[in-house]
Order: sequence, then structure tokens, then C-alpha cells
Amino acid sequence: MDTFTTLVVFLYVISVYRVSNARDTITVDLVIRDGETITSVGGSFELGFFSPDDSNNRYVGIWYKKVSTRTVVWVANREFPLTDSSGVLKVTDQGTLVILSGTNGIIWSSNSLQPAMNPNAQLLESGNLVMKNGNDSDPEKFLWQSFDYPCDTALPGMKFGRNTVTGLEWYLSSWKSTDDPSKGNFTYRLDPSGFPQLILRSGSAVTFRSGPWNGLRFSGFPEIRSNPVYKYAFVLNEEEMYYTYELLNSSVITRLVLSPNGYVQRFTWIDRTRGWILYSSAQKDDCDSYALCGAYGSCNINHSPKCTCMKGFVPKFPNEWSMVDWSNGCVRSTPLDCHKGEGFVKYSGVKLPDTRNSWFNESMSLKECASMCLGNCSCTAYANSDIRNGGSGCLLWFGDLIDIREFAENGQELYVRMAASELDAFSSSNSSSEKRRKQVIISSVSILGVLFLIVILTLYVVKKKKLKSNGKVKHYLEGGEANERHEHLELPLFDLAALLSATNNFSSDNKLGEGGFGPVYKGILQEGQEIAIKRLSKNSRQGLNEFKNEVESIAKLQHRNLVKLLGCCIHGNERMLIYEFMPNKSLDFFIFDQMRSVVLDWPKRFVIINGVARGLLYLHQDSRLRVIHRDLKAENVLLDSEMSPKISDFGLARSFGGNETEANTTRVAGTLGYMSPEYATEGLYSTKSDVFSFGVLVLEIVTGKRNRGFFHPDHGYNLLGHAWTLYMEGRSLELIDPSMGDTYNLSEVLRTINMGLLCVQRFPSDRPSMHSVVLMLGSEGAVPQPKEPCFFTERNVLEANPFPGEHMLFSGNETSITLLEAR
Ligand SMILES: *[C@@H]1O[C@H](CO)[C@@H](O)[C@H](O)[C@H]1NC(C)=O
Ligand SMILES: *[C@@H]1O[C@H](CO)[C@@H](O)[C@H](O)[C@H]1NC(C)=O
Ligand SMILES: *[C@@H]1O[C@H](CO)[C@@H](O)[C@H](O)[C@H]1NC(C)=O
Ligand SMILES: *[C@@H]1O[C@H](CO)[C@@H](O)[C@H](O)[C@H]1NC(C)=O
Ligand SMILES: *[C@@H]1O[C@H](CO)[C@@H](O)[C@H](O)[C@H]1NC(C)=O
Ligand SMILES: *[C@@H]1O[C@H](CO)[C@@H](O)[C@H](O)[C@H]1NC(C)=O
Repeated sequence: MDTFTTLVVFLYVISVYRVSNARDTITVDLVIRDGETITSVGGSFELGFFSPDDSNNRYVGIWYKKVSTRTVVWVANREFPLTDSSGVLKVTDQGTLVILSGTNGIIWSSNSLQPAMNPNAQLLESGNLVMKNGNDSDPEKFLWQSFDYPCDTALPGMKFGRNTVTGLEWYLSSWKSTDDPSKGNFTYRLDPSGFPQLILRSGSAVTFRSGPWNGLRFSGFPEIRSNPVYKYAFVLNEEEMYYTYELLNSSVITRLVLSPNGYVQRFTWIDRTRGWILYSSAQKDDCDSYALCGAYGSCNINHSPKCTCMKGFVPKFPNEWSMVDWSNGCVRSTPLDCHKGEGFVKYSGVKLPDTRNSWFNESMSLKECASMCLGNCSCTAYANSDIRNGGSGCLLWFGDLIDIREFAENGQELYVRMAASELDAFSSSNSSSEKRRKQVIISSVSILGVLFLIVILTLYVVKKKKLKSNGKVKHYLEGGEANERHEHLELPLFDLAALLSATNNFSSDNKLGEGGFGPVYKGILQEGQEIAIKRLSKNSRQGLNEFKNEVESIAKLQHRNLVKLLGCCIHGNERMLIYEFMPNKSLDFFIFDQMRSVVLDWPKRFVIINGVARGLLYLHQDSRLRVIHRDLKAENVLLDSEMSPKISDFGLARSFGGNETEANTTRVAGTLGYMSPEYATEGLYSTKSDVFSFGVLVLEIVTGKRNRGFFHPDHGYNLLGHAWTLYMEGRSLELIDPSMGDTYNLSEVLRTINMGLLCVQRFPSDRPSMHSVVLMLGSEGAVPQPKEPCFFTERNVLEANPFPGEHMLFSGNETSITLLEAR
């Protein structure tokens, strides 16, 4: 009997609990006690009392119900925590929401602007908690809503800005820490002075700004574009100015959050195992820290140093500037004095400067804008306020131009006012070059005759010299072997003295890195041309052979995806190769770095993958020599100023000598993580070993992770094993580097992953040729199903050293390994 009563009571409790759980509304008669919750009708959000991770304080908040790690999106009493579980959430007759503490009475209350009738609070599917009269669901008539009082999270449908009529402001403020929801140091709000822009502050100091809205995006967010996940809008009218976004696919869970340490980031929920992934970040790199380069300084993340003065400006304090303290910025070489003849210099591809001291008119043309700026002595620059349809509207700046940066794409145009004398300097290198060109043409016609004579003379002299010096060159390059070819002479020989002066005596400041066979330096020739010099280490035993190979091979190989050899230098024991200089370093510099990888969106990565494939195809098939590279890796893919890839380092490409055949070598040289199994274990190589390395590279480019050193908590596989596992489970999507944001074309990425896996199959005969790879990349057709790759890790290979009696040479940063014959 007793147990029966208990059971009945128990069941009753459960049923009450379940009923209260299913509610989405709080009425005057039904309060929420600590431990009870309400849930929005579709089950997306839940409201109730909670404690943050490492805290015992109780707060009323709203969190995702479908997300397994509790993620709070809104807190009512963030400044007024309860210290026990006596709290009650209640709706009053006046239409306010109050939190009562057992001991202290009301500790928090919402406000109420209008008279209430039969008020109740409902948690909507959007995560918005609204106070309404009866069941009047017209948003215009809500008495109060939590979306009007954001904390650190902007949910889809929230407004982010201000109502200029009521004075209500919607802005984000960070939590103090992950266990304390009270207001922290950071706020992110729409600043209405001048042309509106979002400004992030730490206390009162500005740390970041979005730049003004240009019709398509904020000027500082070149990466924002239409995407399949959400659509966004900026509204600017008499009454309101705000940014907002809405989901296109309601099953996607995404939020924009201001973290306690001041980062504005968008996260997307994947699943229980992967959790929230970073989808995009407002602050991308150093150039996003506010006014890093000071007034009239321009920041470019790909330059070193990052800050330069704009043209016609010089550092205000040159000493500070050279010590990389850029905070005081730049000043004009020639001050403005508002005299006649002043004009504008156009800058392209920039983030527009701080607009807090600006003025705008959205119906003026650019021409009217220019004359308006010229007519006001304190106006320093102008630009279009809207870049859509070729540009419209007028934005004028008064005072110093602050916080300018350069973007590789989607930057804007800015016209900066300059003194008349400075303008002359600009146009002399520009428009008056027309005149000069005419003069040049005239004089060059007469010079041409003279030149012709000189050429003939030179040819004669060179020919004579060639005949004489043939033996000498042979000696330098060969040290004995007889079959020296004349082709070497077609390659310019650089003078050692010129290279010494170009590299500041090979100073360590000029060192770009350490290649397989020696250091690489940057140099600037007297004419200003930038070059990269590979200086072969004197004590590298194989140096001479590699040198010959590299010179021979590369000189004949010409393809836009191969790095260009400009010449070589031989002087005593000193042997050097001179290449064109690649300003954007190598692929590994970008894809494996969390910040820099954002620069490489999917279209750029796809261009890189295609370029490397074409370069390899050329080496394997189209070039006269049929070259196998043997050391393809991210470090050997250089990027030019347009981020287009160039394969480099042919030192290992063609060293088939003496007792080696095309298919077998006793000298294994390559890099951990990229070597095909048959090459690493048996020394067998073919074009298919390059295909393997290419497959590894492709998977690294898609995932942003290195194959070597890859670690996953769930298994001990390398990246190939990991990719294969996810592929087999139909979860290839999870491989995609989150740094790419939403820039990818899904079918293109999936096809690429599939193709990458084909390239890393265990047996060389299963792997496609580079010819098929290029075809697969270029077509939309189906890609065959790959077989399981070899999950070998090089550790195993090294332990099972296939060349007993040989030692291993680790060079560079220990990523290149060479097995040498020990004699
Ligand atoms: C909701 O509205 C309907 C009519 O639209 C009305 O009949 C009903 O009584 C209302 N319910 C409440 C709880 O106010
Ligand atoms: C919405 O997203 C879900 C999960 O990401 C996906 O399965 C579904 O196909 C998407 N729906 C549309 C219409 O894109
Ligand atoms: C917030 O500001 C205070 C005082 O300026 C400082 O001590 C603290 O380190 C700051 N916290 C963060 C997360 O920046
Ligand atoms: C904006 O420019 C237009 C066209 O020049 C002009 O008619 C209008 O009065 C201007 N508005 C303001 C607020 O200056
Ligand atoms: C120049 O523009 C500033 C800022 O809008 C304004 O205060 C000032 O009156 C203008 N000066 C003239 C001469 O129009
Ligand atoms: C260069 O010349 C073109 C036309 O010749 C002109 O439109 C442009 O503004 C000039 N650029 C500079 C920096 O003077």
C-alpha cells in the first residue's frame, strides 16, 4: 500500500514535470521555479535557471535545446545572480517579467512600456522571449522582448544597431568570463556618428571596426558574400539603422558571439562529436587591430613590415616607425593649404578609413562628391557610399584618415586629397608618360639603327668568347665528366659580387628558409629586381649532382606553374641557383596557419590544386624530359602575388645516375608525410609516387591540416586514414577546413576529396595519372570510388629501415629526409 502511494506520487510528479517541460508560455498564474524549464514549440530553445560551468550562481537564461553542450544565448539577470536555488521567474499583471529570490524579493525585472491585458511570456522558436497581451502574436504589439536586450550573442532575426526614434540600442557585450555572464570589457555596437559602422571597444578604447556598409557588405569584411546558410541585410532609414541576418535553412544552427576576450566570431553547430566550429571571424589578422598603422598608414598583411605610409606621406616620427612602432602614423610630405590645384589620388582595394568623422549623402554622384570635397578646406578624402551598380552616393572625410588596410579582393576605392605639388609627382609617372612615350618612340627609331650594329658586334664577340671559355665552364659545372652540353651557356651566369651585394653578404635577415640542400636567400639586384637565391651547402656531398640536375632540368622546363630559374652562379666551391622571387612564400605558410588560412578561400585553393596538377602533368608528360619531382610538398609550392602556385625545388627531380634505374634507387630522398609507400619502403618510384604526394597535398589543402603529425583523439590514423574513414562513413564534409567559411562549392570540394583519395591508394597502378587528375578536376562527371589507402606512418618505415647500413640525413627543419649510402 505504502509503495503504491509512493509510486502514484512519483508518477504524478513525472507527469507534472513533463507537462511543465512541454510548455512554452509563462502566465500570471504559472511561475517557473529553479529546476523547471519551458521549451519553444519546435524544441529549439529552452528557458530556465542555470549555473555557468565553474560557478554556483544561478541565472535565468535561454539556451539551445538541440545542442548537446549547453550554449547560453541570453541571460536575464546577468548582473544580479542568485546564490541559491530559491529563485522564481514570474509574470506580473503589469506585463513585466520578474525574478524573485526567496530571501531578497525582486532581484531583477524587465520593463514595461505599455499597459498590459492578460499578459503572458512566450519563448518563441527563434529564441526570442516575448511578453504579449493574451495571444496577440503581432511583433509590433509585444510589450517586451529579449531580442531587444542582447547579451553576447546575435541570433538569426535579431536586430543589431539602434532605433533613432526611441533611442533603443541593440548591441553585444561580452561576458566577463566563461563562468561569469556579467558585462565584461568588450562591446560591439553600431556607431551612428558620421556614416554608421560597427565598432568593437575594450572599455572605451576602440579595438576593431567593421568599416561602413557599402551596399553589399561592411567595408572591412571582404569575405562576406551570399551563401547557402544565411542571408543578411543592413537597414538605414529615418527611424532605424541595423544589421540583421536570417537563416535560409532552418535546420542549420549558427550564432554570432562576442567572446569574453573580445573576438567577434560566428559558430556553426555540426554534431555531438565535432561541436561548434568556427565559421568566420570578424578579426582576421593583425591588420584588423584598430589604427595599427596610425593616421595615413596603410596595413597590408602580406607585406613586411605590414605598415607603409600612403603615397605622398612620410612617417611622423621616422625613428619610432623604423622600430615598428607605427602608432603615430604618417604626415603629408607637403601640407594642404587649400589653394587652387589641389586634387585627389585614387587608392584601390582598401578598407575605408574610420567614418566617425565623415558626412554622407546617398543620392549624390561621385563627381558631385569630388567637387563638394574640394570646396571644403577640411575635407581630406571622398568615396562612393554604395558600390553597387558601378557606385553611387557620397562619403566625405574630415580630418585624419585612420585605420586603412589593403585587401586582395573586394577592397574599395578611396580618393585622397593631395597638395598640387604632390599631384605633379604622381602624374609625372602617369599621364605625362603619354608625352614621354612619344618622345621615346621618336628617339628609339634613331637609336634602333645604332642598336642593330651593337647587337651584331656583341654576337661576334660572344661567339669568340664562347669558343674560348667552353673548357672553363665545363670545368666549373662538371669537375671532370665529359658530356657537357652548350645549353648551360644559355642560362645567365650571375656574378658573385652582385649576389653578395644583393643579399647584404648573405645576411641572416635575408634568409627565406632552408631548402633540402642549403639555405635560400632573398636578394634585390641593383636594378631593383627581387630574386631568390638557393645557396648549395658546400659540404653537401650530393650538391654537385643536384646542382647539375637542377640547372639542367629547370632551365629547359618552362610552365606557368613551375618556378622560373633566372640563372646560376658558380664560383670556386660556391654554387648557387637564382630564381624569380615569390612574394607570398609557400603554401604551407598559409594553409597550416589558423589566421592566414582565411586568406585562401575555396576558389583560391581550387586554383592552387589545379595549378599544381597542371605543373605536374607538364613535368610527367608534356616536357621533353619527363621529370619525376620526388619531393612535392606544401613547402615546395610557392605562391606568386596572385596566389597562383609554382612548383619549386627540382634538386631531386632527375638524379638517376650510375647504378640507379628509372624504377629503383638506392638513395631515397623525400619528405615525411608525402612519400608513397613503395618509395619509402622499397625505393621504387615512378610518376605514380608524385601522384601520391599530390594526393596528400590535395587533402592537406582541403583540410588545412598536415598529414605528418596529424593527430585525432578518436584514432591513431594519419590524415589519409582519417580522410578515408570519414569518406567511407559519408562524412567527407567534416574534412573541410572551417577557415574557408562558406566559400566552397560543395560538389567541387567533395569531388576533390574523392580525387585526392584516388591519388593516395596503396598500389601505384590503382592511382590515376596526372592526365586523368587534370581531367577529373575540370569536369563535373563522377569520380571513381577509391580503394583503401595505405595508412602507413613513417615511424614504421624508419623502424623497418629498408637500407641497412645506411644512415639518415635530416636536413632543414627535419621535414626533409634523405637516406644516404654509407660507404
Ligand atoms: C486566443 O485568441 C482566440 C481568438 O483569436 C480566442 O478565442 C482565445 O480565447 C484566445 N486565447 C487566450 C488564451 O487568450
Ligand atoms: C538544410 O540543412 C540540412 C542539414 O545541414 C540538410 O540535410 C538539408 O538538405 C538542408 N536543406 C536545404 C533545403 O538545403
Ligand atoms: C578587462 O579590463 C581590466 C581592467 O582594464 C583588465 O584588468 C582585464 O585584464 C581585462 N580583461 C580582459 C579579458 O581583457
Ligand atoms: C543630397 O544630394 C542631393 C543631390 O545633390 C540633394 O538634392 C539633397 O538635398 C542632398 N541631401 C542632403 C541632406 O544634403
Ligand atoms: C566643411 O565641412 C564641415 C563638416 O561638415 C562643416 O562643419 C563646415 O562648415 C564646412 N565648411 C564649409 C566652408 O563648407
Ligand atoms: C593617371 O592617369 C589617368 C589618366 O591618364 C588618370 O585617370 C589617373 O587619375 C592618374 N593617376 C594618378 C595617380 O594621377
